[in-house]
Amino acid sequence: MSSRKIGDVILDVQNISLSFGGVKALTDISFNVREHEVRAIIGPNGAGKSSMLNCINGVYLPQQGSISFRGKTFKHMNSRQVAEMGVARTFQNLALFKGMSVLDNIMTGRNLKMKSGLFAQALRWGPAEREELQHREFVEHIIDFLEIQAHRKTPVGRLPYGLQKRVDLGRALAMEPQVLLLDEPMAGMNVEEKQDMSRFILDVNDEFGATIVLIEHDMGVVMDISDRVVVLDYGKKIGDGTPDEVRSNENVIRAYLGVEH
Ligand SMILES: Nc1ncnc2c1ncn2[C@@H]1O[C@H](COP(=O)(O)OP(=O)(O)O)[C@@H](O)[C@H]1O
Ligand SMILES: [Mg+2]
Repeated sequence: MSSRKIGDVILDVQNISLSFGGVKALTDISFNVREHEVRAIIGPNGAGKSSMLNCINGVYLPQQGSISFRGKTFKHMNSRQVAEMGVARTFQNLALFKGMSVLDNIMTGRNLKMKSGLFAQALRWGPAEREELQHREFVEHIIDFLEIQAHRKTPVGRLPYGLQKRVDLGRALAMEPQVLLLDEPMAGMNVEEKQDMSRFILDVNDEFGATIVLIEHDMGVVMDISDRVVVLDYGKKIGDGTPDEVRSNENVIRAYLGVEH
């Protein structure tokens, strides 16, 4: 674990409940995330982990509860507003444009930052052209950081899965997020790819100073890279603490750790 300083609460989830018809995806969930922390959310399939991230980034609207970002509470906020506040995410199922190059996919993450309208951009009109150059430079920096220079022009669909996940991380980083929500960034990866991704997540945390909220199934990875862990089971919170605390929590052992998912 690095020497970075963990700060005040940046994200505070208060009493969130969410249901779909008769299905209670989340029941009265509260937890907080501190600035610069790596915070993991674990739990069996269907526990409500992805739903929780979807509430945080404004994709799902919970029936109850609220979420505060840097002390500012919001109940109804759409994904664009959340993004503008500095929260970016990656998806459990990749949401990249397979036919587009690595560079162009990561550029889509800059859209929010672009001031000139699409029309000016399309015509490469004066300020728009200069602006695009600056964005490209930033994106090249991310490409170097993620060590995917050799694939800059490759259509994403032709890359191995592990590298596609890395491009997805790059797209999220292009938003210069203060909080990065990662939904199973290592799902489907082999051991070596997982190690690489763990290292990139820790580097993002260290070098970009981003706060990380991470859903992950691999308990080894979770225990290695997270500062604190929230455990969900059937939409309820059954554990919350350091990896060691969670590992020795009876409810967690019963619900999750002893069972293969
Ligand atoms: N859009 C949706 N419509 C209906 N049910 C949903 C929807 N999203 C999630 N659920 C249900 O909510 C529960 C939690 O799902 P999810 O958050 O995806 O769990 P996890 O990510 O922990 O596997 C599941 O029972 C799932 O079927
Ligand atoms: Mg999920």
